[in-house]
Amino acid sequence: MTVRPLKLAVVGATGSVGRAVLEDLEAREIPVELRLFATSRSEVDLLEFRGDELEVETVTDRSFRGCDATILAVPAGVARELAPKAWAEGCLAIDLSGAFRSVEGVPLVVAGVNDADVAAGEARGVVASPSGPVVPLALALAPIHREAGIQRVVVTILQAASGSGRGGLRQLEKELVSLLNGEEPDPSDLSHRVGMNLVPQVGAFLPGGSTDVEGAVGAELRRLLAAPALAATATAIRVPVFYAHGLVVNLRTARPLSADGARAALRASPELKVIDSPEERIYPMPMLAVNDDAVLVGRVREDGSQENGLDLFVVADNLRRGAAGNAVRIAEAWVRGRRT
Ligand SMILES: NC(=O)c1ccc[n+]([C@@H]2O[C@H](COP(=O)([O-])OP(=O)(O)OC[C@H]3O[C@@H](n4cnc5c(N)ncnc54)[C@H](OP(=O)(O)O)[C@@H]3O)[C@@H](O)[C@H]2O)c1
Repeated sequence: MTVRPLKLAVVGATGSVGRAVLEDLEAREIPVELRLFATSRSEVDLLEFRGDELEVETVTDRSFRGCDATILAVPAGVARELAPKAWAEGCLAIDLSGAFRSVEGVPLVVAGVNDADVAAGEARGVVASPSGPVVPLALALAPIHREAGIQRVVVTILQAASGSGRGGLRQLEKELVSLLNGEEPDPSDLSHRVGMNLVPQVGAFLPGGSTDVEGAVGAELRRLLAAPALAATATAIRVPVFYAHGLVVNLRTARPLSADGARAALRASPELKVIDSPEERIYPMPMLAVNDDAVLVGRVREDGSQENGLDLFVVADNLRRGAAGNAVRIAEAWVRGRRT
């Protein structure tokens, strides 16, 4: 049986996530008919895909006609405006912006964790992808949760500059060049310089002192893992790394699980690569995760300070796996569901 190509519109194709969507489609050799969109002010008119140059168009009301799905890799306000237009043409909107993450009736999906929930996108014509760090976190926690029931998670998110898109990448590059030339960089768009620094703020502060990014972690994990009683707390730090977020994870399970047992459960997941030979200095690092589809997990060990405690370190390419790869997999699951 020949499978017809996925008909996909990528809005924000010229951005960091949009370009990673093209890389993901190429790397996984997915049969696809693509339409690419950005603003009329975009600096980029053409993007290369599989050796061809594809035109980058401006969105109109009819742009989504005939498409199975559109990936909205754009600011939240733009996603809010475009999603209903897409659904009016029968095209599912996959929202990366956060605009729909807590909207009633919109499923939140990490492919490889709760794929079956994609079908519920039918209700509003939208499926939401979680915030970048939560995608690898949910993928790493899901096998442990199935094995031993996670009760509590404490996570430190080490957020790469590309988590803020092209702006974040340019800013860090400029800062590092200035610093290496012995100059203090111009004031950053990100409020403090990240170059040769650590900034304990990602997102806007909420009452109580957490940021919106930190506050969303628990709520998103509870939905993704179908674990309503799971407690979670997060601290997000901007680090001077261009690509790939790191996650320092401590957790407590309901049932005992040894480090070996946890590694075995993690190894059984096709989404994860367990690289964990610390004595040989083999463990996850951003430089190993860039352009990789897999979530890297290592430094798995028992936490002797509490009953049923485990520590691990997780790294994933925020653009390829955290955003683009998840959105493309959601589109694939949606089309598979429509064909059966
Ligand atoms: N970066 C990450 O790790 C990550 C992870 C998860 C989710 N996200 C979310 O994904 C979205 C995109 O992030 P990014 O990092 O790729 O940002 P980015 O690099 O700044 O790119 C933004 C893209 O949006 C396009 N755009 C802006 N306004 C538009 C409009 N009115 N119509 C059509 N296109 C428009 C831009 O096109 P022009 O070329 O015309 O400016 C550009 O292609 C954001 O909502 C972000 O929060 C990002």
